[in-house]
Amino acid sequence: MKALEQKILTDGIVLSDTILKVDTFLNHQMDPLLMKQIGEEFAARFQHKEITKVLTIESSGIAPAIMAALQLEVPMIFARKRKSLTLQDGLLTSNVYSFTKQEETEISVAKKFLTEDDHILIIDDFLANGQAALGLLHIVEQAGATAAGIGIVIEKAFQDGGERLRERGIQVESLARIESLQDGKVQFVKETRR
Ligand code: G4P
Ligand code: NA
Ligand code: NA
Repeated sequence: MKALEQKILTDGIVLSDTILKVDTFLNHQMDPLLMKQIGEEFAARFQHKEITKVLTIESSGIAPAIMAALQLEVPMIFARKRKSLTLQDGLLTSNVYSFTKQEETEISVAKKFLTEDDHILIIDDFLANGQAALGLLHIVEQAGATAAGIGIVIEKAFQDGGERLRERGIQVESLARIESLQDGKVQFVKETRR
């Protein structure tokens, strides 16, 4: 997605060979117009899948997920990372280990929001090692729902999350795919498809 790649080039800060900072439009300050375009792009790429719900994880997944859900005209649910006071029973949970942060988080979604009839579109802001997306897939499986696809805003293609998800046969669409962050420069994967 050209507008997103442009924004990454103008605003992204390469912190190291593996970490890209995008706090001016995605992870702290958010750009609503860009988010709207991101939602439209996800909706277009998954239009044929009869999506019934969009699922993400708080916090940075929420903005792209709600925009995709708005376009697809379906509800959006975000998995919580902390236990809610009012949410105790009837939870689907999964443990997500972050290699980046070296910590494990239990994520949860209330059972009542996912049914066997649902076709779920999973959305997240970053794809690195794929642990967050795998945790969401685990929750979808527990609900007996169908994982219809995974939409990622920024995929770090030099890490193995993308491969892990695609080898499960799931349609994974990343709007920007980064091949390398070496020498302080963002290099995108050269797409032949689009
Ligand atoms: P994984 O799910 O693909 O295995 O990713 P990982 O555990 O490495 O990611 C942990 C957190 O770090 C996630 O945010 C993820 O979005 C973020 N992250 C991973 N790589 C990058 C990067 O290069 N740049 C930025 N800006 N973030 C990255 P989180 O802890 O869930 O936080 P939140 O932003 O959703 O609140
Ligand atoms: Na994040
Ligand atoms: Na996230």
